[in-house]
Amino acid sequence: MAKMFDTSLRIDAAGPRGIPIVNNLRFLRHNAWYTLDHLAAHPGPVIPLTGGNGSAVLLRGEEGARVYFTENEVFERLADGIFALPEGRPWSKMFDAVITFNGERHRRARRLLMPITHKSAMDHYGTVFAETFKRSRFARPDGEPFDMVAEFLDVTRANMLVCLLGIDVDDANVRLADDVARLLRAFQNPLVLLFRSEAAWTPHGRWLRDLASVYERLELLIERKRADDPRSDALSILCHTVDEHGDRLSTPEIAGELHGLFAAGFETTAMSMTWALLTVLGTPGPRPDTEAGLDAAVRESQRLLPTVPFSLPRRVARDIRVGPTVIPKGALAFAAPLLEHHDPASYPDPHVYRPDRWTGAKVGPYAFLPYGVGQRRCLGASFADLQIRTTLGLMRWPSLLTTEVDYVIRSGATAFPGRPVYVRTGPPAPAPGPVTGSVRRLWAA
Ligand code: HEM
Repeated sequence: MAKMFDTSLRIDAAGPRGIPIVNNLRFLRHNAWYTLDHLAAHPGPVIPLTGGNGSAVLLRGEEGARVYFTENEVFERLADGIFALPEGRPWSKMFDAVITFNGERHRRARRLLMPITHKSAMDHYGTVFAETFKRSRFARPDGEPFDMVAEFLDVTRANMLVCLLGIDVDDANVRLADDVARLLRAFQNPLVLLFRSEAAWTPHGRWLRDLASVYERLELLIERKRADDPRSDALSILCHTVDEHGDRLSTPEIAGELHGLFAAGFETTAMSMTWALLTVLGTPGPRPDTEAGLDAAVRESQRLLPTVPFSLPRRVARDIRVGPTVIPKGALAFAAPLLEHHDPASYPDPHVYRPDRWTGAKVGPYAFLPYGVGQRRCLGASFADLQIRTTLGLMRWPSLLTTEVDYVIRSGATAFPGRPVYVRTGPPAPAPGPVTGSVRRLWAA
């Protein structure tokens, strides 16, 4: 595995005191709280996780975020080490996808994937989102409590199966979706990463077997789609897309992209819906009842409680000056929508949930980053936006039953509530007490 942190790198910028590797690991473990407790007080645009050490840096503010999101030849997505699979197997490319590529490979993959977000495909997805909603517990006014987090995961999984893969929501396909999602989650067990033996009894060997099994099922699907007439699901579009140079994605490439799209789009969308519904239900007063009102509520929840509070990390490919600071080649770099979304210069009273701040609002291009920005902006943003607005737009607002909610970041990337969040449909329950828990560090009462 390539070295994640080069702690020998120096940087001329102030930051927290301490031992670099310890601070870096503390950041990886609790990035939101480490940032609020130790980094937020430093003005930037470049803040090392340890003052004077160049192994890991956060870029913040208009200047920091602009450089980070536009200088793609310098700030490269991590393609090294962690995701490298043994060569020469059918499944060797399962971690190769637009989300990990840089340079020309990235541009090619984006070009070949773009048709899955064209208007005709989006119209089909919109119909699917509405159908899935009708089958969900949110549409049943039976008064039974249920966990909205689990329900939104069911909703987005079903939408991914039908829209992305073009297959039914039956038990075998739900298992396939969960097996795909589990591939990345396995990295939470450090043994999977550290001891790379292919022996079947080792954690890494078992994980490779799971990977091969997922690949085989995807390969079968892809071959069937290729033989079938073109349809509106994303897989069918990918199988039939040939660009103007006659270029097309191979079967292993499509399998890698499907894996990447699932990993990037399934839980993130479910959690964005969760945070949006929580902030609506946890705020006294009228619920949004127009398209514009819902749009403002969704944006405000994405600002206040971002589902992806940090950009995907980048490796710095050459020394680069940002403001007064030179970031050394080899540094690991992050940007933090979490900080940008709570900057009082862009958002007065930044911890207050106030959807009406979006009425006629003009925010800078680097101040609102739920999907990132620039050439690497989330490829599924319009798919996610339509899904969130269709699902919440059809909802008769349920009653919130759980009020203690923690903001917990899993796998360093996606913010989940720490526990189930119960709601119930049907006649309104008595108003709940105010929401408590660690969400309150971001969302003031
Ligand atoms: C509300 C749900 C979602 C959120 C909050 C979200 C957020 C993000 C963020 C923050 C990035 C990285 C930006 C960066 O580091 O520069 C990203 C990248 C990406 N997302 Fe999403 N995403 C969501 C849904 C989806 C969906 C539904 C899909 C696919 C169907 C998807 C596919 C991707 C891909 C492929 C990339 C990599 C783009 C590239 O590197 O060119 N995302 N997303």
